[in-house]
Amino acid sequence: MRPAPLLAALVLAAAWPATSQPMAPMLTVKEVMKHVVNPAAETFWKGSGSVTTEDGVEERAPTTDAAWDALVNAAAVVLEGGVILKTPGQGPADPEWQRFSQQLADAGALGMAAARAKDEDKVFEAGGEVYNACYACHAKYIPRPANSLWKQP
Ligand code: HEC
Repeated sequence: MRPAPLLAALVLAAAWPATSQPMAPMLTVKEVMKHVVNPAAETFWKGSGSVTTEDGVEERAPTTDAAWDALVNAAAVVLEGGVILKTPGQGPADPEWQRFSQQLADAGALGMAAARAKDEDKVFEAGGEVYNACYACHAKYIPRPANSLWKQP
């Protein structure tokens, strides 16, 4: 081990001001959706179920360790997306917002466990839970036009 860099790191750590400030949001909710939550969920969903094409039914479950790992990673981002949405100041200060954010994090955790276990059925179920979390929050927080046929629950 080379002691010099370690010493430098210790000096830096000591000089760094102690901050106990909670993390403030750096992206808008819309950006979190666009760049974090949505792509991760899409990747996760693409790793389960099947699609029917002209050539027949294509199973989408991963077939390699690397692809299973990628599914675990996507679920982890979904989980952390929920954590980001729970950051104080991110989204409305409302217990229901917290609940839906937690629902997304929990669904991501289920997805991680299922993908780690390489369990196709559980991955599919977790995908449904992820979808439910998106839907529940959008139903409540994305305003619809008053004349929409789609009714607010
Ligand atoms: C805790 C609440 C919440 C959860 C959970 C949530 N969303 Fe959203 N989402 C929102 C809100 C609020 C908006 C509208 C943001 C705006 O337009 O400012 C939004 C907008 C979006 C958009 C539009 C972004 C754009 O560029 O206009 C997409 C896509 C999206 N969400 C995908 C998802 C997916 C996929 C999930 C689940 C995996 C999800 N969201 C879960 C609250 C949530």
